[in-house]
Amino acid sequence: MKKSFGKLLLLSSLTTALVACGGGSGKITITTSSSTSSSVSSAISSSVAVSSEISSAAVSSITSSTATSSTSSTTNLSTPLKDLAEFPIGIAVELDGPHSLLSSAKQKEVVAHHFDQLTAGNHMKMSYLQSAQGNFHYTQADQMVAWGEENGLGVHGHALVWHSDYQVPNFMKNFSGTSQAFLDLVDNHARTVASHFAGKVASWDVVNEAFLDSGEYRNQGNEGSIFYQKAGGKDYIAKAFIAAREADSTADLYYNDYNTEQNGAKTDAVIAMAKELLDDGVPITGIGYQMHVMLDWPSIANIKGALKKAADLGLMVKITELDVPINHSWSGTYQNGTVYRTFTPALAQQQKKRYCEIVSAYMEVVPAAQRGGVTIWGVADHQSWLMGLMFSNEPNDIVWPLLFDKDYNEKPALLGVADALQGKSC
Ligand code: XIL
Repeated sequence: MKKSFGKLLLLSSLTTALVACGGGSGKITITTSSSTSSSVSSAISSSVAVSSEISSAAVSSITSSTATSSTSSTTNLSTPLKDLAEFPIGIAVELDGPHSLLSSAKQKEVVAHHFDQLTAGNHMKMSYLQSAQGNFHYTQADQMVAWGEENGLGVHGHALVWHSDYQVPNFMKNFSGTSQAFLDLVDNHARTVASHFAGKVASWDVVNEAFLDSGEYRNQGNEGSIFYQKAGGKDYIAKAFIAAREADSTADLYYNDYNTEQNGAKTDAVIAMAKELLDDGVPITGIGYQMHVMLDWPSIANIKGALKKAADLGLMVKITELDVPINHSWSGTYQNGTVYRTFTPALAQQQKKRYCEIVSAYMEVVPAAQRGGVTIWGVADHQSWLMGLMFSNEPNDIVWPLLFDKDYNEKPALLGVADALQGKSC
């Protein structure tokens, strides 16, 4: 099967993380459902000097021994990832701030070399595209799309509707009219944006994160969604899909969520919703699994089980936001109760294996015709959204979750993805 670029071509096993974006600061807040969460700061109280960056020498020695060809420290893999896959290999990028794609030659080079699909990490979300009612502005998103076109990368749009507080415009948050009038706002946003990008995006996350980990809709409380609340129920979901389809007749239309990889109540809720939408003739065509996972969570068996449920519906299945942090604080403790302060070759190999196993699971379970692709959530370790999110008493750079180090050198993790794409054992 040939690639189609659209017709445009957390956690320990015991606890569940609830990730919610909040505040006006661009920061993420994490709450966990476990009482162990309160021990986040107390568990790790010492501030230890950290060897915070990957040792290039260590990484080179690993990568050169496992690389398919070159032994250079910057191009360890002879073939670009994108050339190893029959489905899009995507990457989330930033369009402003210190990590802006377009202002970094090195970043542009690795992105154009290895990937064939872009996702805007932020700039296609609601508050960026329609900051005030009726005031749509696309400058940065358009620049990204244009750069993609020039460099052979398509686009996966993210996201038409997402409740995350600071990325919802005030006019939506402060809306006080009828449910019907609110649904009209949702319809108008989805329709206008999907129409603007029609023919330029292969696919959309139409609705992102509508469920709690319990499997309930985000109906109330801290984890509630203003969309559910102001629309008076879940109808905003169907509304957004219908509007997106009417505006763009060809893009794949995904429902996207996190913690669905663990194949629990939330996974089942998403699958049940998708069935219901399909039964009602609502144009959902895919399910996105964010895949913000850990080295040890969830199990590959659970990941396969979860992906299979979507595949069995005949829908497209996409890994939309893959990252694998070395340390995590989701469960209120750290990986195996340990803090890894150095990115050792052994950890690099564990991470490589994990990336490989996840991509292999995807290829094993999802039939070729239903593979919407695999997207990594960020380019280089220092740019990850997990920086600044995980730890209050540790330097933030001990997550090392991505495929490139801070100098854009390929990490063993990248070779793990390559191995999976080539059907090699992990
Ligand atoms: C994150 C971005 O990466 C951050 O830069 C931003 O501050 C908050 O949002 N799930 C999603 C993404 O669907 O939109 C989130 O992106 C990460 C979690």
